[in-house]
Amino acid sequence: MISIIAAIGKNNELGKKNDLLWNLPADMKHFRETTKGHTVIMGQKTFESLGRDENGKQVGRLLLNRRNIILTQDKTFEKEGAEIVYSVPELMTLLEKTSNKNKENFIIGGGQIYKLFINEADKLYITHVNASFPDAEVFFPEIIPVIWNEISHEEHQKDKENSFDYTFSVYEKF
Ligand SMILES: NC(=O)c1ccc[n+]([C@@H]2O[C@H](COP(=O)([O-])OP(=O)(O)OC[C@H]3O[C@@H](n4cnc5c(N)ncnc54)[C@H](OP(=O)(O)O)[C@@H]3O)[C@@H](O)[C@H]2O)c1
Repeated sequence: MISIIAAIGKNNELGKKNDLLWNLPADMKHFRETTKGHTVIMGQKTFESLGRDENGKQVGRLLLNRRNIILTQDKTFEKEGAEIVYSVPELMTLLEKTSNKNKENFIIGGGQIYKLFINEADKLYITHVNASFPDAEVFFPEIIPVIWNEISHEEHQKDKENSFDYTFSVYEKF
């Protein structure tokens, strides 16, 4: 089983300049709590976006307490502690062989990787950020209402730490 987790703006915005468009600590916490102990699967660019060196350069970072799988087409790419796969079929075979029914397989981005898996996924964990981001460069695929049934909906108001209203939604395929 494949799940997707993402935070998206009103127009499905995901990011720009290989970074996020907002600072929402409550969503970071939600992401950590939802994926902790499970498997996270990401594109090489999202991996890169997760950590910076002392000069602010993106250098990549693995997510602690999770099985990390990175998708790339670069056969020279290596990262100790991560599993590297080079195609969707290779990933699916790996998951079939190694998945544990107590662990959820979360696609955590970014734009290219969500597009590859939206039709394969059974469940979406979406944080809807209630704002538009005209400078976005990367977008989430359309969540088609006849395909996806919202099974959970939790609205939150902006506060001192979180600059936008946001909703945690969970969708399952009808
Ligand atoms: N809002 C959110 O929830 C959220 C979550 C995650 C990321 N993001 C944002 O999304 C942006 C990054 O997304 P992105 O679309 O640019 O990149 P991405 O999806 O993170 O990664 C793209 C990379 O994945 C690899 N790849 C793509 N298709 C593949 C395939 N079929 N087989 C094997 N590898 C494949 C390639 O790596 P190689 O080039 O190494 O071959 C490609 O360059 C950033 O702005 C990030 O902050 C937002």
